[in-house]
Amino acid sequence: MLSQRPPLGWNSWNTFGSNISDALIREMADIMVEKGYLAAGYEYLVIDDCWSLRERDENGLLVPDPEKFPHGMKAVADYVHSKGLKFGMYSCAGVMTCAGYPSSYDHEFTDAKTFASWGVDFLKYDFCFFPETGDCRARYQTMSMALKASGREILFSACNWGQHEPWKWMRSVGAHMYRSTGDIMDNYISFTDIFRSQIDNLCMSANGCYNDMDMLTVGMCGKGNVGLGKVCTYEEYRLQFALWCLAGVPLMMGADLRSVPEEYRQLMQHPDLLRIDQDEESRSPFLIRRASVTTSNPNPKEGEYPWRTIPDASFTFLRHLSGGEFALAYINLSDAEARINCEFADIGLPAGSGMTLQLRDVFTGEEIGPRTDFYSPSVPGHDLKLYLCRMVPKK
Ligand code: GAL
Repeated sequence: MLSQRPPLGWNSWNTFGSNISDALIREMADIMVEKGYLAAGYEYLVIDDCWSLRERDENGLLVPDPEKFPHGMKAVADYVHSKGLKFGMYSCAGVMTCAGYPSSYDHEFTDAKTFASWGVDFLKYDFCFFPETGDCRARYQTMSMALKASGREILFSACNWGQHEPWKWMRSVGAHMYRSTGDIMDNYISFTDIFRSQIDNLCMSANGCYNDMDMLTVGMCGKGNVGLGKVCTYEEYRLQFALWCLAGVPLMMGADLRSVPEEYRQLMQHPDLLRIDQDEESRSPFLIRRASVTTSNPNPKEGEYPWRTIPDASFTFLRHLSGGEFALAYINLSDAEARINCEFADIGLPAGSGMTLQLRDVFTGEEIGPRTDFYSPSVPGHDLKLYLCRMVPKK
């Protein structure tokens, strides 16, 4: 069965855009193995848009661009498979792909067969140039049927950017994941906006079909195809990765793995973070509190107070994990350090429960507790504190 956990892998779009080739994909496959990504669970290597010629051939088939892929696509897939990885490709439900290449509208069954004949294991299916009179749900259902008829097990990664509330129906048309937002850009505002927008939808994401908050930009450091605005700091990338893991969504890396700085390789292979993301129960995080952050305003201008209030900036979540564990996250999306409170009564542990919480900091390994009644760490701006916790009876 596919997609029993959020799929993990790498996708060419964020860094390379149209600048893709046979050689690049082979190099990336090598690196995914050599640098431990496959061993950590990242198994899909996905080629995004811009891989084909601008026209179908005389038989109506999609043709890989021979300049980019001189040995054809089957050879690429074979190489990727020889490394123990799975191979992903891209098409679109509209009449052209976003970059103007032929797509699968009215060619669903033919194209699914073509992909299967090349050895494709994963299809990302985009939404550009979709006819206004078209029926989005019906078209995703059609491609889902075409993939199932193709004779190969192919993971269906639907990408309609959250249009028509896909969390309500994508699972029912057989998709294994569905993009829930517009494109991520390589900056702090973009990924925090995406996270905020999906908080209420995550409970509809679970085994078999996951909410896809888009490819990671972790480690891109402003290089590549989606760089826009201010480059993220280490803490901001760590926040992005931790939010995706807390949300329990697919982790499709987007950085150039050949040159990604070592600290980001370690981050994306962090065993505790991956364990949270991949927890077998696939539960969404429980939002305990969403609040503003109040911080001092040391040099108030005329008419300002000596404090500032930053709305919708602090979040506390508890995520139930298997085996009696919990992930407890304190997230600070303001630009100032703040103490973020969590009363244990708000997570179902009132004073009379007789239970305490033992916490372990996921990033430092520090053991904290057992704590009773509350725990309120100080969290720097644009950062989070994340703990793995267990209940312990009060002595
Ligand atoms: C967008 C999609 C991106 C990328 C791009 C390719 O619609 O959201 O993830 O696939 O198209 O042109």
